[in-house]
Amino acid sequence: MSSRRTALVTGSARGIGKAIALELARRRFDVALNDIIPPDAAAASLAEFAGLPGDAYYVRADISQRADRAALVEQVRARFGRLDLLVNNAGIAPRKRLDLLEATEESFDEVLAVNLKGPYFLTQLIARWMVEIKQTQSDYHPRIINIASISSYTSSPARGEYCVSKAGVSMMTKLYADRLAEFGIGVYEIRPGIIRTDMTAAVREKYDKLIAEGLLPIRRWGEPEDIARAAAAIAEGSLPYSTGEVINVDGGFHLRRL
Ligand SMILES: NC(=O)c1ccc[n+]([C@@H]2O[C@H](COP(=O)([O-])OP(=O)(O)OC[C@H]3O[C@@H](n4cnc5c(N)ncnc54)[C@H](O)[C@@H]3O)[C@@H](O)[C@H]2O)c1
Repeated sequence: MSSRRTALVTGSARGIGKAIALELARRRFDVALNDIIPPDAAAASLAEFAGLPGDAYYVRADISQRADRAALVEQVRARFGRLDLLVNNAGIAPRKRLDLLEATEESFDEVLAVNLKGPYFLTQLIARWMVEIKQTQSDYHPRIINIASISSYTSSPARGEYCVSKAGVSMMTKLYADRLAEFGIGVYEIRPGIIRTDMTAAVREKYDKLIAEGLLPIRRWGEPEDIARAAAAIAEGSLPYSTGEVINVDGGFHLRRL
């Protein structure tokens, strides 16, 4: 079993997941990157890890698929032999933003499968493995981070299925935090606000305007690195007496203001 700290970050070929994986590799974690894209398409992202203290290793898997989740865990197990951190980051927006009164069941099923069912059951597999390791190693402090969203509690009727999926992720954080506390496994949630990635590229002008008009107390877009820094604080064990905790990384969006 590796004596080095190891992490698995889903959906990490780009965006927030990649930023988290890079930050972890800078902090000497060996990182399993996972994404749905083929290895040759992920090669450029993987190249960014060259020279960092932690190693990076790419596993293609679609986390919405049961067989892929099982294969992903098996590959990480074979490669690392242990896992200190799981980051459930992979997520999708609906292909089309459609009003609640028009939206389709197909989109609901797709978004829920990737954003909620995938991480829910991947966490089940990883948690069983972490419990197993914990029983043989006392100096082992595994952690799980779920990337939810301000959409966990904010209504956007043009992408209801996304909001429902993220509200589910928030409940999932509480459930696993409760269940895994007895094993010393901390479960945390990060709620990103409006973050500059490919996911938000299509609505950049809309958010530019809202931010300029004062939507956020901290008047700027969030960057993937803002999320990565919060994830690193959790990964380093800075919150040992907290579990089920939500960290808002949203420029203060969650504050009610008068
Ligand atoms: N960007 C934002 O403003 C924002 C805000 C709140 C929450 N989030 C959440 O943060 C996470 C990352 O978002 P992002 O902005 O970096 O998005 P992104 O679209 O840039 O990156 C998501 C990555 O996940 C991968 N992915 C998609 N489906 C997958 C699957 N089935 N299996 C494995 N990988 C898959 C994609 O290929 C992509 O590389 C998502 O869960 C998203 O919902 C983003």
